[in-house]
Amino acid sequence: MPRNDFGQLVGRSPAILALQEEIRRVALSDAKILITGESGVGKELVALSIHSHSLRADRPFVTVNCAGLPETLLESELFGHVKGSFTGAYRDKAGMLEKADEGTIFLDEIGEMSLRMQGMLLRFLETGELQKVGADRVGRHVDVRVIAATNRLIADMVSQGSFREDLYYRINVINIQVPPLRERREDIPMLVEAFLESLDNDRKLRITPEAYAALAEYSWPGNVRELANVIERIVVSGCGPEIGLADVPVEVRSQRGISLRPKRERRRSVADELYKRMTVNRESFWTAVYPLYMQREITRGNLRELVSKGLEEAKGNYKIVTKLFNMDPGDYKRFLNFLRKHDCQLPFRDYR
Ligand SMILES: Nc1ncnc2c1ncn2[C@@H]1O[C@H](COP(=O)(O)OP(=O)(O)OP(=O)(O)O)[C@@H](O)[C@H]1O
Ligand SMILES: [Mg+2]
Repeated sequence: MPRNDFGQLVGRSPAILALQEEIRRVALSDAKILITGESGVGKELVALSIHSHSLRADRPFVTVNCAGLPETLLESELFGHVKGSFTGAYRDKAGMLEKADEGTIFLDEIGEMSLRMQGMLLRFLETGELQKVGADRVGRHVDVRVIAATNRLIADMVSQGSFREDLYYRINVINIQVPPLRERREDIPMLVEAFLESLDNDRKLRITPEAYAALAEYSWPGNVRELANVIERIVVSGCGPEIGLADVPVEVRSQRGISLRPKRERRRSVADELYKRMTVNRESFWTAVYPLYMQREITRGNLRELVSKGLEEAKGNYKIVTKLFNMDPGDYKRFLNFLRKHDCQLPFRDYR
């Protein structure tokens, strides 16, 4: 997968700009941070970025995945162990907390920690003292900044009793939420460029507008990680210098909302109803749809669906869509400008 190891968050959407500002703001304190967000949105990258903007930047950034290991191994991974403390412990071993001394420890998927481990972590956070597995007393004091992340709703886990409330308050001093990619689609082109460049910067790959449109419309349930993987797949499967719609994986091209089905069904019925009002009741787009959209009664998704229905009927001809939606032929330009401005102008070629 194309990687971004410099803690640089690519994107210019308001959400990313706000995130970058927040990162700079919180980096300089030592406050504990809980980063939340769906899988693949960039939580670890945000943590790394905080570290690299902090005064600890030239000290280690150490990641521990709390989900990957059975409890006893996680304990030894975090706190270290002394020789002979269990079968296979042939020598003393430093834990990740010790390795992160003066730096930052990133506790990924903290929601997966067992209650017992949560208790041990809490004790460490309160004292800063490490007790290695098998040691009979507490050992050295370490100075680490703790950043944790989760894609679970920890507050719910607290009320269900599977996450300690005291630990929750201790790690959640600052909460940073990383929004899913589908809520900041305007970042997709920049991310694509960045991934293409990191994969292959001398082939000068270009992407056609149709391929871009498909990437921009997909719902990206796996977020930025999925986008990075898709771009890598396209490149390694030997695309030409120009990446067209045919190079885009079929699940991206043909998704009409597999992962968003319930929402899409609702959306479809809204779009269906508005479509009927224009084509059967002969209401104009400007009176039946435009005000609803501007007052946010209907979503961009509804509007796109509606445009898509129109284009289907009109075989990709926007002039005919203008007529179908009961507008004056002279409104054609205004209609297209409106769609473009609100990112609802679908590529007509798909409907030819
Ligand atoms: N804004 C971004 N700019 C550039 N690369 C990004 C951005 N967001 C995420 N990435 C890249 O996407 C991939 C996934 O990001 P990351 O591992 O940080 O996600 P995550 O939220 O920790 O996911 P998970 O919950 O699955 O662990 C990484 O390769 C990361 O570098
Ligand atoms: Mg992660």
